[in-house]
Amino acid sequence: NDRPPQTGRTILATGGAGYIGSHVVVSLLEEGHRVVILDNFENSDRYTVARIPRIAPGSVALVEGDVRDQALVTDLLRQYKVDAVIHLAGKKAVGESVADPLLYYSDNIGGAVSLLRAMQATGVSRLIFSSSATVYGMTEVMPIDETAPTSATNPYGRTKLMIEEIIEDLTVADSDFRAISLRYFNPVGAHSSGLIGENPKGAPNNLFPYVAQTAAGLRKKVQVFGSDYPTPDGTGIRDYLHVVDLARGHVAAIDHIFGAAPQNRHQKINLGTGTGYSVLQVLAAFSRACGFQVPYELTPRRPGDAARSLADPSLAHSLLGWKALHDLDQMCADHWAFQQKAAQDSRPTLVSGSRTG
Ligand code: WQD
Repeated sequence: NDRPPQTGRTILATGGAGYIGSHVVVSLLEEGHRVVILDNFENSDRYTVARIPRIAPGSVALVEGDVRDQALVTDLLRQYKVDAVIHLAGKKAVGESVADPLLYYSDNIGGAVSLLRAMQATGVSRLIFSSSATVYGMTEVMPIDETAPTSATNPYGRTKLMIEEIIEDLTVADSDFRAISLRYFNPVGAHSSGLIGENPKGAPNNLFPYVAQTAAGLRKKVQVFGSDYPTPDGTGIRDYLHVVDLARGHVAAIDHIFGAAPQNRHQKINLGTGTGYSVLQVLAAFSRACGFQVPYELTPRRPGDAARSLADPSLAHSLLGWKALHDLDQMCADHWAFQQKAAQDSRPTLVSGSRTG
């Protein structure tokens, strides 16, 4: 085929067994890169890693461990001759971070500092960081571009913002170091094979997995958090992004970070579609995908939620040559296909088939 000569690099994907991580690993393998996954399986499982070779052939090594174990990370950076790191490992539940902030500071900040020190000790100077649109706080101006003011409204969001600032300080101190912080909007969907996808442990906080579990009969009905927002149908609008598009954005960032030296060595880039959908529009699309009306009820707003969040993805397009290719119907169809397959699995982590609250 016309694939360029093996320009594959060796990439360490921390958290590479997770929902987003596993999709990033598949995309890296498809581009001919070699991948080392470091994961402590706290919010992921081996089951996912075992399925990756069925989707994408190529060299993938698994190291079970914690990114805060600096000696372990230093050793594996050397042993595998890692060229770049994609840092996805971390906790991401907003509510949990409010209840237990120190857990988030020790895991997310501690993990990032430990990883960066191991990278410095081994001369690995290229980093892609999994950041989040949550760093834009309650900004009103839509769509949001990378120059929008940042702020945090919860400890989880503060850890993402702090890690971006830690990376910023490192690029000032170390002129060899280059980083891209990818600010994800709302990742949803699953690989079309149905072999990997989002399978959260416990009741999902996010809309898509909750809708999918309701459609699968694992939840009684979806609560629509607020129908009095200043939006066309009164429900919250978000920029949903297919996780395969998100994964492709990481591969584009890896290509870019080994390219010509940029004017600023820490680039922040939004990954979103630029199109927003309301909760009711998601429910309608998901009902089309599963073939029946997903039950829901209108309930009061969830504290802290914004009416609208929408990306301006033009920098990703101009700098990385990346844009999202999947639409909402494909996000719903793929998320639903995975949910059905996952429900057939014998794995205990899924709620049993009985209708539960
Ligand atoms: C989407 C919309 C809700 C659940 C969160 C984190 C953010 C990022 C992505 C990590 C909103 C509504 C939701 C439900 C509902 N995570 N909703 N019923 O809040 O945009 O972003 O996940 O980086 O940091 O904050 O995503 O999926 O929770 O909500 O009506 O049961 O769905 O009000 O309008 P959110 P979400």
